[in-house]
Amino acid sequence: MDSVDTHDLIFPYLLRKVTEKAALASYDWIGRGDKEGGDKAAVDAMRVSLNELKLNGTVVIGEGEKDEAPQLYNGEVFGDKNAADHLDIAVDPVEGTTYLAGGQTNAMAVIATAPKGTMLDPGPAFYMEKFAAPAETRGKIDMNWSTEKKLETVASLIEKDLKDLTVFVLDKPRHRGLVEEIHQAGARVTLYPAGDVAGAIMAAIPDTEVDVLMGTGGTPEGIISACAIRAMGGEFQGRINPQLATEIVSVRNAGFDTERWYERDELIGSDDVHFCATGITSGLLFSGVKLTKHHFKTETLIVTGASKEQVSLTNWHNR
Ligand code: FBP
Repeated sequence: MDSVDTHDLIFPYLLRKVTEKAALASYDWIGRGDKEGGDKAAVDAMRVSLNELKLNGTVVIGEGEKDEAPQLYNGEVFGDKNAADHLDIAVDPVEGTTYLAGGQTNAMAVIATAPKGTMLDPGPAFYMEKFAAPAETRGKIDMNWSTEKKLETVASLIEKDLKDLTVFVLDKPRHRGLVEEIHQAGARVTLYPAGDVAGAIMAAIPDTEVDVLMGTGGTPEGIISACAIRAMGGEFQGRINPQLATEIVSVRNAGFDTERWYERDELIGSDDVHFCATGITSGLLFSGVKLTKHHFKTETLIVTGASKEQVSLTNWHNR
């Protein structure tokens, strides 16, 4: 196969095979209580299909080091080194491994690409505080404001009553204070045990059941969310927020300013972003892999930054 031209209209259509194949490979692991098995199946499938794609890419955002899970390694190079466009790649073969193992909603396979050097390399940072909201709020919410002022401002910008505003928060002990502040402000909280990429994307898409995402989750998931939201339009800001004792030391030694909020376009420095996500289990964004008599059915969200197109693709794969 010839090297792919990432500016070709067909590129996102080819890229979605990477997440489709990861989702299909992890299907057998849904609800079997084995996070690592499902993750490894998806990682292996992604590695094969990335090489088949013949793009010239380097993984900048892999995933797994935090949990010592199977992973695509940061710095791993794919495809055809002679291909013209060199890409940064962010992957999460299974976003929501606990959901996959527990047969719960919202597990998905995710990939994003951007031109080389345009994705922030978070170094040893595993955790990031995040804020995501619809496009109307871009550049208008100061992260130093109180939770109440942020939410009041979002509500007014998107023309919604504050009492009807819904904030996605990961259900973690570290968020007890934040949840209290959101309730005090008069907004609703929707708590999920995992999966803040879906939460961030839902927040950026207008008129969904999530209006805002707040709180701390994985750094890779933060960069991936920033890719998707830059591609589709919408607000995202992130602050390196280490949670683990060893991480606090290594983030400090790497010179990160943990007070600093990065704007979306500092996290992803190009509009030429491609994002694909395929459902493994059914969730907020799409249905998971379904088995029929003759086929596996998948649903994929494909977002192209240059054109701001968002395409939902249902695909039937022979068994
Ligand atoms: P996994 O896919 O590794 O299970 O991560 C899911 C996730 O919930 C992310 O969506 C989120 O950003 C991160 O984990 C939060 O990490 P933690 O559960 O350690 O707080």
